[in-house]
Amino acid sequence: MVSTRWAFLTRPDGERDLIDELGPSANAEKLDLAVVTSAVRPRGPDQTLEGLAFARQAMRLVHRISASDVETLAKQAARALNRQLARRPEGWAFQLVTPEGRDARDEAVRTAEALQEPLRARILAQLSRPVRDAQVSASDPGVRWLLQVWVLKKTDTLVGLTPAQDALSCLAGGRAVLERDPEAPSRSGLKLEEAIDWVGIGPQAGDLCADLGAAPGGWSKVAVDRGAKVIAIDPARIKISLPSRRFTHIQESAFDFAPPETLDWLLCDMAWRPLEVAQLIAKWGRRAWAHQLIANFKLPMKRKAEMLRRVLTILKRAGWQGLRARQLYYDRDEVTVFAWLDPTLTQRGAKEPFQFRSRSGERSQPRARRAPRSRPRPSAEEKPGARTKPSKQAKPHARTKPSKQAKPDARTKPSKQAKPDARTKPSKQAKPGAQTKTSKQATFGSRRKLDTKTNRTRDRDS
Ligand SMILES: C[S@@+](CC[C@H](N)C(=O)[O-])C[C@H]1O[C@@H](n2cnc3c(N)ncnc32)[C@H](O)[C@@H]1O
Repeated sequence: MVSTRWAFLTRPDGERDLIDELGPSANAEKLDLAVVTSAVRPRGPDQTLEGLAFARQAMRLVHRISASDVETLAKQAARALNRQLARRPEGWAFQLVTPEGRDARDEAVRTAEALQEPLRARILAQLSRPVRDAQVSASDPGVRWLLQVWVLKKTDTLVGLTPAQDALSCLAGGRAVLERDPEAPSRSGLKLEEAIDWVGIGPQAGDLCADLGAAPGGWSKVAVDRGAKVIAIDPARIKISLPSRRFTHIQESAFDFAPPETLDWLLCDMAWRPLEVAQLIAKWGRRAWAHQLIANFKLPMKRKAEMLRRVLTILKRAGWQGLRARQLYYDRDEVTVFAWLDPTLTQRGAKEPFQFRSRSGERSQPRARRAPRSRPRPSAEEKPGARTKPSKQAKPHARTKPSKQAKPDARTKPSKQAKPDARTKPSKQAKPGAQTKTSKQATFGSRRKLDTKTNRTRDRDS
């Protein structure tokens, strides 16, 4: 029996990254493919358990049992539930999974399938009535406990009961299985959809987003489909057609782009060196160019945890707050990061707001002012420090007009996917006449004043 230890699911071959992330004091080790155990879990300054980027799911271990022994499994699981919930029954959910990396013919997968219903029935039969009645689905807002059974092999199972807030996901095994949009130009859009589910917030109607590294257009499509407007920046071609009222493509390097105003979202999926992308996003933070961030960092290196730490440090120093990082189910050698800027730093001064040009060439009319949205509150340790203030040099509007001198340097080189000659060749589907612009052609509206009473950003929807 193993007790007072944690078990984690990772992506297959991600065990080393998680062990590195847990740190030497956690005594972490690989137990099986895609499974790591540790004696402890790192806590933050306020003593709450810290999030983990390289784990998909966490469970507080109760028992390690032979999987074929349904009776013992059910007895131990029911005992843990009865003991924990006898006095105060609270919502609990049952999840039975096999860690990733095993194919459908693997004995562990077949054992888990065969166990699912008999085990559930036997557990329920051994619970006191009030505890049995407290069972809910894991996605139910009332769920407080996750009873998890992980079948590692035909005869090797881990059972654990975990407070829902300490589990990393309410999805079985932390796996978000999403349906791919048949019109999506790539599977990349699934990464953004999963990220939005994970953080519980994403681009929505009326929001204005920049999408750095946007080609072939998957993320932009997700944001546009959610009602947002998107300025896509990528030297490569966008391979789908999106409504030009809400989408525009600027064919240039993201290192040369400056937004015309503070945007609602900075989306970034650039295939480029993580530290350089972090520096670019840091610039967006210092200059208060976007309220919220979802960025996917490419981490092809062997030791990803250390690189991620460096990336997060760069972002934090630039004023990005509430940083959360996770290697999501649809991420490969990548990690998705969410963050937001202190709203008081993202007020806009008088500037030239970006206007989308409709196909007829008319500018869209700004919509009536929106009520401020609620956004995540800073935690005690996340108060904006001196470094979070936009620096004096950071003039968000100085760059609204692309500089003619802007010369591509080493950083502006597009990745292999970004073929420079593609810049001039319009894609057949994409009708670039309407959608694709160079930054010189990007249309900007007339100068408008900031509402000094509310200091709120003007609403941009038409
Ligand atoms: C993984 S793909 C993005 C996929 C996209 N998010 C989607 O959903 O379709 C990476 C993109 O980064 C772009 N990229 C690489 N370097 C860039 C740079 N300096 N500026 C802008 N885009 C860049 C590449 O051209 C490529 O299209």
